[in-house]
Amino acid sequence: LNYQVPRTRREILEILLKGLHRLEYRGYDSAGVGIDAGNGKDWESNAKSIHLIKQSGKVKALDEEINKQHDMDLDVEFDVHVGIAHTRWATHGVPSPVNSHPHRSDKTNEFIVIHNGIITNYKDLRKFLESKGYEFESETDTESIAKLVKYMFDNRESDDISFATLVERVIQQLEGAFALVFKSVHYPGEAVGTRRGSPLLMGVRSDHKLSSDHIPVLYRSTTKDKKGCTALPRMDQDTCLFPVDQKSVEYYFASDASAVIEHTNRVIFLEDDDVAAVVEGRLSIHRIKRTAGDYPARAIQTLQMELQQIMKGNYSSFMQKEIFEQPESVVNTMRGRINFNDNTVILGGLKDHIKEIQRCRRLILIACGTSYHAGVATRQVLEELTELPVMVELASDFLDRNTPVFRDDVCFFISQSGETADSLMALRYCKERGALTVGVTNTVGSSISRETDCGVHINAGPEIGVASTKAYTSQFVALIMFALLMCDDRISMQPRRREIIQGLRVLPDLIKEVLSLDDEIQKLAEELYQQKSVLIMGRGYHYATCLEGALKIKEITYMHSEGILAGELKHGPLALVDKLMPVIMIIMRDHTYTKCQNALQQIVARQGRPIVICDKDDYETAKCSSRTIKVPHCVDCLQGVLSVIPLQLLSFHLAVLRGFDVDCPRNLAKSVTVE
Ligand code: G6P
Repeated sequence: LNYQVPRTRREILEILLKGLHRLEYRGYDSAGVGIDAGNGKDWESNAKSIHLIKQSGKVKALDEEINKQHDMDLDVEFDVHVGIAHTRWATHGVPSPVNSHPHRSDKTNEFIVIHNGIITNYKDLRKFLESKGYEFESETDTESIAKLVKYMFDNRESDDISFATLVERVIQQLEGAFALVFKSVHYPGEAVGTRRGSPLLMGVRSDHKLSSDHIPVLYRSTTKDKKGCTALPRMDQDTCLFPVDQKSVEYYFASDASAVIEHTNRVIFLEDDDVAAVVEGRLSIHRIKRTAGDYPARAIQTLQMELQQIMKGNYSSFMQKEIFEQPESVVNTMRGRINFNDNTVILGGLKDHIKEIQRCRRLILIACGTSYHAGVATRQVLEELTELPVMVELASDFLDRNTPVFRDDVCFFISQSGETADSLMALRYCKERGALTVGVTNTVGSSISRETDCGVHINAGPEIGVASTKAYTSQFVALIMFALLMCDDRISMQPRRREIIQGLRVLPDLIKEVLSLDDEIQKLAEELYQQKSVLIMGRGYHYATCLEGALKIKEITYMHSEGILAGELKHGPLALVDKLMPVIMIIMRDHTYTKCQNALQQIVARQGRPIVICDKDDYETAKCSSRTIKVPHCVDCLQGVLSVIPLQLLSFHLAVLRGFDVDCPRNLAKSVTVE
């Protein structure tokens, strides 16, 4: 938003598109922009209509689309202008121009909005708004917000209602996570942004001194006026931010600082439920009510970071960032799907097929790489809770074998990208044979999510590092949720279901606890990084962790590493063990504990010096180990989420110490779209 800073339309579009380019690393499948449409001299009349341009694909495709808009004069100058733009990573609805943002209230674009996050009650909102005559054009959750703000406007009690008030009313109806920015023809030169759960910050740029270095929060009083409405808080010189000579200021709303840092390093981080409004060049921050612990002002901070640094936060690579994101990414996988109070699970993408799945002959989980390991990791609990035979297959081998598939089979395709060629071909193979197909992907609109009959999106957010980390733990959680859903009406299963659901509730905190072992694991990496080989052994729930840990080490450190089923130790791998060979063992207190202890004894007897990942109070195991990594205890079938994280961290530190590019390992690609 520029206020009293003359900008041509060309400059405005450049700022918006550059900002989008900076955010592209968060994932992209489509992009869009909304700007003032008028071509006259007066900015206020120019703002009486809005021009929307949207396109699928990268930001570059949007740029090309903009250049095709020949009726748009790029040299028109605006003293005041609000433009919003968005790059989308689909959660609901395939990537397409109509599903991309900004979304609009109606065909004349009275209100437009951009959204980052997920609205979990959008179906109810949509139903309500449709019953009031609002017509929807997309499949997205976001469109209901655009319609809702117009509904609030159409049903306003007085004409002088502020834009911020409308937005306050909107967010009171929203469930889920969001960062939102609104623009409207009814409020020329104004913009409102708000957030809950998803990040939103504001950049402030002015050559003039600002009125303050912080903004007090304005709380809406809880007393009602005569019309039954809550009173508006006072807005004056003391409660707004503005340049002292009342001119020349630019405000930028953005999901992260990378989009604004080239314009300004002065930023305000908004808190959940803040509503930030810019009116006549003044910024004010509103909240409905003050809650305990709520600091009643927002500071303007000066960022000292480089652009590259901001994109990765405080992390040196995307992989490291993604490892540390796991407490949040698993929450995002569960968000809106599990009710921890009554122990219920809802997976919207499966609900029409769950009865059919319950009647099937067997489940086949098909995937490649890390996604395959997510299948191995959850196979046992799937067998336990569904009481069905479960096969886990590498897509390439499954096809090589011409595996028999029947109409009453249910085939799962687990894929972060949703584009892996082998998995996709296996999907087509199963479809031809009449099986029901289910996608478990992180990419809405991907080939696998489009071509399967039904599915679950894991909602882990874009994963950039080639070595998959947060997608694995989210696939794990998504498959567990599916297993829970399959037995929700089985009385005999209820105690076990409750135990697992309560385990999922505490999982994010336990992940945080494991991540706090990072320094310890870095020290271990310093001892191991010059080795040629690492063996990782375990069994039961942790066999998948061994395979996945070894894959991580191979992928990014180029060391030889093997995941070994401890039950097979005596059938060959034991011959590799001597006092020099690094061995990592996973020993948790579950039904395989005694057998794992035996394996440990066998390693020690061959002079091996095992490093053991174990339960934090397991002193017995610690006695026989040369070193232990102690992780918190969780319900057995979820423990694999915790045991894999030390190995993710270890592979990361090993790669750094060996001087390799963690995010882009040699010879590998994030998405393998060829056979
Ligand atoms: C590639 C990636 C792996 C990934 C595998 C399967 O090998 O480097 O990180 O696990 O593909 O990808 P998908 O997108 O199907 O999960």
